[in-house]
Amino acid sequence: MAKRNLLISDVDGTMLGDDNALERFAEWHEAHRQPFGLVYASGRFFDSVVESVLTSVLPEPNAIIGGVGTDIQLYPSGEVMEAWHEKISRNWDAAKLREVLSQHPELELQPEEFQSPFKVSYYLTDADPADLQALWKRANEASTEATIVYSSKRDLDFLPAAANKGTAAAFLASQWGIPPGSVMVCGDSGNDKALFEQGFLGIVVGNAHAELKKLRGPRIYHAHEPFAAGVLEGVRHWIQHA
Ligand code: GLC
Ligand code: MG
Repeated sequence: MAKRNLLISDVDGTMLGDDNALERFAEWHEAHRQPFGLVYASGRFFDSVVESVLTSVLPEPNAIIGGVGTDIQLYPSGEVMEAWHEKISRNWDAAKLREVLSQHPELELQPEEFQSPFKVSYYLTDADPADLQALWKRANEASTEATIVYSSKRDLDFLPAAANKGTAAAFLASQWGIPPGSVMVCGDSGNDKALFEQGFLGIVVGNAHAELKKLRGPRIYHAHEPFAAGVLEGVRHWIQHA
């Protein structure tokens, strides 16, 4: 990957949401694809993100981080970065975790198409921090080291302890030899929070959920514009200020 910079963005609610704005972003990307590598980091899996790329004006990326950071695949080949799976699979047992969590009737298992060997996902509306803490404890008693990611007051993901969008993004950037200060990340909801914890240049789009709106720091830019227009606003900000 002979790129000097990377733009790593969430898809739903960040790139997608306003078609006119996305077209403007696509034009910008077309003009800057040489220096800028593009990566999508989604809660969805590779095939589902590819479907969006093929049916919208979303520009083609160089790689896709799928399943909330549990998979890294090159695009268009689909080649899986097995080294990432090796890194995150330690002390993780999805079947055991599902068995333990099946004793929690408040958790509604998401459809099978959203589950993988590295991601166990439920719906749980309006959970508070104490609920999440209790579930995290329960999961970690199950002899598996899990991390919990809660998004949009509804989606509850259990992932291997070392996996999230941020650690996956950092792994990919280091594999490609791109330093954190040359990586921009963008998002709108809870599962993007980890992207802002790796020393990258951050962009929170204007329509973001409260869970991201409250982030503060010298490397976090809060765009006024929503969706892809916010991404573009943030990219322009960091090109000027980084
Ligand atoms: C995507 C995934 C879903 C996950 C959510 C939040 O919608 O399909 O499984 O819970 O992102 O990470
Ligand atoms: Mg999103």
